[in-house]
Order: sequence, then structure tokens, then C-alpha cells
Amino acid sequence: MRKVTLMQIYQHPITQKYVKRSGLAHAISTSYHAFELAKQYQVDPDLAVKAAFLHDMGHYEWYRDGEWDFDSYKANDIHAIKGAERAHKLLVRLGEDPVTAKEIALAVLLHTDSYLPEQTVYRNSLQEVVALADEKDEEPNGNHHYRQITDELAAKKIGDLDLRIEKSVSSESLQNTR
Ligand SMILES: [Fe+2]
Repeated sequence: MRKVTLMQIYQHPITQKYVKRSGLAHAISTSYHAFELAKQYQVDPDLAVKAAFLHDMGHYEWYRDGEWDFDSYKANDIHAIKGAERAHKLLVRLGEDPVTAKEIALAVLLHTDSYLPEQTVYRNSLQEVVALADEKDEEPNGNHHYRQITDELAAKKIGDLDLRIEKSVSSESLQNTR
């Protein structure tokens, strides 16, 4: 039984502020990719989807004179660190299991290596699923952050994904009791 649904996460004001700032359409597409990849990598789809949905919530825009300043972004960006902290706080507030909240926060932290001096990172399967799901939805020049989606369609897609996760989690627990 899941303690927190994706819909509860979506509706929270913290998500509305930060996930919308970095791109709700991208967060949802990444979540769908993560759901599919989770089967392939045999990781818990609930954790993979939640981490994928929240992975960019630490983003901050780096503009200079109205233009995206990539050098400034490269030098200052810590979105994965900030996102991990925000995701953890949000999940704990919503009543998520603390061990699950930590696993999701770590997958957010390691979804990119762009902020690390050596640009190398060793990922477990859950973390790899989230990083791959993000890559699958990336567009040149960061355009994936600006793709639009209506609140209505977003809520529908999130509700559908919650149902798919419920199904796969309950069929998994059925198999374990056999
Ligand atoms: Fe992303």
C-alpha cells in the first residue's frame, strides 16, 4: 500500500511552485518514461515515478539581461542538491515513509552529474532509471523545460499514472504471496 499518491504530490503548493517553474510537462513525461524503465530495471515503480516527477524541482533560472546565461548556470547550478532537499521535505510533510523519502531524494540528487567536479557518478538501479528517464525527454537548448501542458491534462495524466502504479504494485505483492 502506497502512503502517498502522485496526485497528492502534484496538488501540494510546493510542487505547484517548483515543479511548474522547471516544467510540468517535462516532469510528467519523465515520470512516464520512469514507469516503463522501472519494469525493465526491476525497481519499484512508485519510487521511480515520484523521483522522476520531482527531479528538477531544485532548478533556478540563470538569466543575464533577459537571456539564459549558460556559463553562469554551469558555474552556479546546484539544482540536483536543492531538488533533493525540497523533494525530501515535501514527501515527509505528506506522510511518506522516511526510508522511501530518502531513496527518492537520493535519486533526485544523482539524476545528473553536471554539478560534480569530476562529472562521474555511480548509480544504483533506481537512480539509473531516473537519470535515463530524464535523458529520454531532453530537448536541445533546454527546450523541454518550456513545453506547456494544461492543468486539466496534467491532472488526468497523473491520475492515470497513479492507477498504473497501483496495479503494478498490487500484482507484485500478489505474486509475493504465492
Ligand atoms: Fe530534467
